[in-house]
Amino acid sequence: MKYFTTVNDVKNIHDLVQDALLLKKSPFSHSHLGKHKTLGLIFLNPSLRTRLSTQKAALNLGMQVIVMNIDKEGWGLEFEDGAIMNGSSVEHIRDAAAVMGQYCDILGIRCFPGLTNRDEDDKEQVLLSFMKHCKVPVVSLESATLHPLQSLADLVTITETWKEKRKPKVVLTWAPHIKALPQAVPNSFSEWMCKAPVDLVITHPPGYELNEEYTRGAHITHNQEEALKDADYVYVKNWSSYSKYGQILSNGEGWMLTAEKMAKTSDAKIMHCLPVRRNVELSDALLDGPHSLVQQQAGNRLWAAQAVLKDLLMHNGQPQQVIQSESEKIIYGL
Ligand code: CP
Repeated sequence: MKYFTTVNDVKNIHDLVQDALLLKKSPFSHSHLGKHKTLGLIFLNPSLRTRLSTQKAALNLGMQVIVMNIDKEGWGLEFEDGAIMNGSSVEHIRDAAAVMGQYCDILGIRCFPGLTNRDEDDKEQVLLSFMKHCKVPVVSLESATLHPLQSLADLVTITETWKEKRKPKVVLTWAPHIKALPQAVPNSFSEWMCKAPVDLVITHPPGYELNEEYTRGAHITHNQEEALKDADYVYVKNWSSYSKYGQILSNGEGWMLTAEKMAKTSDAKIMHCLPVRRNVELSDALLDGPHSLVQQQAGNRLWAAQAVLKDLLMHNGQPQQVIQSESEKIIYGL
């Protein structure tokens, strides 16, 4: 693996999940792998879990880490090829990313969508520009459309808590929120779950359909009650509309998960990627109750990131694999 930006970059998700679980048992088993290697974490947007877990993961592997909040601390970046830079942008991504690639062996990039122009966000110009010009492996720390480190941690959490022989029923349910949020977490969760041994049901109010590129294989319904019936895991998340791009279509009354609704499930575990708006998306009682996995899930961000960095450290630099990753095909137009 040279890039980790989508589930399609991963050759075998089962092996990656198992590796994360092995690292959880033995965090320092590969503490020399990253010796004299540097991870650069570049943030265009805020973060708590992604920043700290990826940093800690790199330290466990013996790497050094450089973190930059480029939106606040860096020069204003230009992303358009051929731009005449006589405006507010000070530095072109071609130059900035190429410089970063000389200082770092792996780069992590966080770049949220603008949520105003769907086509622009879907193009992932920021992430792909870094990948194209830095010349080193890149990990997505959440991009305009996907958040694969979160989804890997989610799958690790489901895998380690599921003890039955049958496939679990996993429900992704839309929740109310006061702000328009990206679709990256639900897109990514759906993309990963559709490749995992689970039955995925997505439920949301009309108008909140996700990009079907990521939901193929999921059962989708507007009926939350029907979706929750016999669920083993309930993943709670808000997202803004994809069809009326970036908009909040309603106040979402009736969509907050409650203890009464949970009674319809199969004693389901509750998941949320955090940060969470308490008593808007989810009640205190559910978040702090015995069925909540949210802290375990956030803890697993560390092992997910460590498994990914370990793979990049071990396999990058090998002769070009026969099959190129999905990301390489996109950025180089293969
Ligand atoms: N879940 C998640 O990505 O958290 P942060 O935004 O705090 O990194």
